[in-house]
Amino acid sequence: MQTCKKNLDWPLMRNNIGRADLKAVIDFLQVDIPMLTQSSQVGEFEHEWSEWLGVRYSVFVNSGSSANLATISALRETYGLGEVIVPPLTWVSDIAAVIQCGFNPVFVDINPRTLGMDTAQVLEKITAHTKAVFLTHILGYNALDQTFLDALEERKIPLIEDVCESYGATFNGRKLGTFGIMSNFSFYYAHHMSTIEGGMISTNDRDLYQTLRMLRSHGMVRESNSANLKCQYAENYSDLSPDFIFAFPAYNMRSTEINAVIGRSQLKRLDANNRVRTENLSLFLQSLDPDKYQTDFEIGGSCNYAFTLVLKRPDPVLCANVMESLRQHNVEFRRGTSGGGNQLRQPYLRKLMGETDFSKYPKIDHVHFYGFYIGNYPELEKEKILELCSILNQLAGDGAYHG
Ligand SMILES: Cc1ncc(COP(=O)(O)O)c(C=O)c1O
Repeated sequence: MQTCKKNLDWPLMRNNIGRADLKAVIDFLQVDIPMLTQSSQVGEFEHEWSEWLGVRYSVFVNSGSSANLATISALRETYGLGEVIVPPLTWVSDIAAVIQCGFNPVFVDINPRTLGMDTAQVLEKITAHTKAVFLTHILGYNALDQTFLDALEERKIPLIEDVCESYGATFNGRKLGTFGIMSNFSFYYAHHMSTIEGGMISTNDRDLYQTLRMLRSHGMVRESNSANLKCQYAENYSDLSPDFIFAFPAYNMRSTEINAVIGRSQLKRLDANNRVRTENLSLFLQSLDPDKYQTDFEIGGSCNYAFTLVLKRPDPVLCANVMESLRQHNVEFRRGTSGGGNQLRQPYLRKLMGETDFSKYPKIDHVHFYGFYIGNYPELEKEKILELCSILNQLAGDGAYHG
């Protein structure tokens, strides 16, 4: 007999751009003839973001992927080409940026408790050719540890942090995105906050900041806000108009004033929203059956916009039941967690790297086949979290002994 399943009506994200944000845009547009292309609102948003994060400089761009590309381009312009250590469990644009800029990507497996790169394996992969470690903090979990940071510093290897999925999360009480030489953020709709589309790059390094400002805007020197630097270029290239000196082969990654207005409005409630999300994640993990699902994530300092649901063991029967049950209860989910799982299995990387020995990445492959994420937004009702966990806990597995 067919039983009627309760509709939990649970999308990946809900109401991330609210009435207050739209009102801020409407108010902005009431000004006589508002300037809409990148201008003072972008500058204010960058300033407020830097204050919130605790860094000196930020550069607002049109997506998190643009932030990835600008960062890796700045790495190339500053440190030269070589190898970049990057995880196969990340968003496609992290790896694409490394490849597109001409670096050789070097991959390592993950630490299943943070879903970030296994930091001991990263250190083992460092060679004389390593130009940077480009680390992703996956779905709100901090991937850093002190031994790792100390070793990178000692070996003078730059760290770049992708914090697109984890802003607000901390390590040792300090916000992620303040440890690397540059850090990336995404304001895509499904993330902690949204500017419709958008991204940010943050840094404490004055020279990288100038490079990033120019890379965002065709590589044009006039986009720098350093009088000294502009003067030097004008002197060195006296045959060029100072308005049109292109220092780098670059991009147009600018955003608009409207996106910045939304960002400024959103930033005001980011911390309050993140506190609710953190409570929700704890409740979710505490309520799952630890015999069936992984519940030992390192949640200290975490800040997730999505729940990670990873099967404890490779159990195809439980996996199929989880997906069927989520669909029946109208709970939106993604398989494989960040970026759909193991990027080395994707056609673009297979074409480039050839067939990979996947047995070298068993932990990523487990998440690829048996991991999911589910939305965690501030309005999510606690009763729904409890109800979903109870449904998931009752699902049957293959019953095999996996010990
Ligand atoms: C880790 C990570 N990096 C980069 C990005 C790219 O951000 P965007 O979608 O804003 O281009 C994403 C997007 O989801 C992401 O999860």
